[in-house]
Amino acid sequence: MVADRKSAPLLFAVAIIEAGILALPAAAQSVEHDAHLAIPNPSDLSKDEALKVYDDLIFQMDAGYAASHLSMISGYQGWSKFNDAPFISATHGQRYVNSYANSMAHNYGTLKDGEKLPAGSVLAKDSMTVTDDNHLYPGAMFVMEKLRDGGNPPTADWRYVMVMPDGSLFGDTIGDRSQEMTYCHECHEAVAERDYTFFVPEDYRIEQ
Ligand code: HEC
Repeated sequence: MVADRKSAPLLFAVAIIEAGILALPAAAQSVEHDAHLAIPNPSDLSKDEALKVYDDLIFQMDAGYAASHLSMISGYQGWSKFNDAPFISATHGQRYVNSYANSMAHNYGTLKDGEKLPAGSVLAKDSMTVTDDNHLYPGAMFVMEKLRDGGNPPTADWRYVMVMPDGSLFGDTIGDRSQEMTYCHECHEAVAERDYTFFVPEDYRIEQ
């Protein structure tokens, strides 16, 4: 099962962090500049395989995020999903991710340069880890919430939240550990003209 001596402790560490067992401050220090903690050996899955794994993990993932009691992501599984299969996100730790948007974010899929999403829009990206030796773990959820006008000018009124797979909060730009979360917007600034959203890679897009 375990690939070799070198990768075993690393995998173990990843498993612990993914499971949210490590005390958060310790986890935070080790991943300060990459809170998505890159997976060194992601598995290369076909769309069908990725969908199957997602199917296997979804209840566990859903229950984990729900333990956060964050009302803004409650029921996200019922929202519109914008990708036809989980895709690897290099910028979110080589995890397989899915992109969901709530009904307020009705124009997320059709946004043109210069347009904005309305206040109350929530974009939720759940994630899972699949290593090349078939270890599966639920991953963190990455959330963006559009605040009211002037709600948080330094992040263009977007709130970024990261929820660990066990429902504990890694950080929130307008709440706990906001300093650990500044890098989210710093990267998303690259797509300021699309209201700071990158959207889904072309070959995974579902036309809405
Ligand atoms: C280094 C760049 C980078 C960083 C850092 C980053 N993101 Fe992203 N984010 C992306 C890219 C690229 C996408 C779209 C494709 C993908 O998921 O890989 C994305 C997509 C998203 C989406 C879906 C909405 C969209 O943009 O279309 C959410 C939600 C999100 N990120 C939240 C976060 C949060 C929360 C953090 C910080 C914990 C974060 N991101 C950090 C690059 C980044």
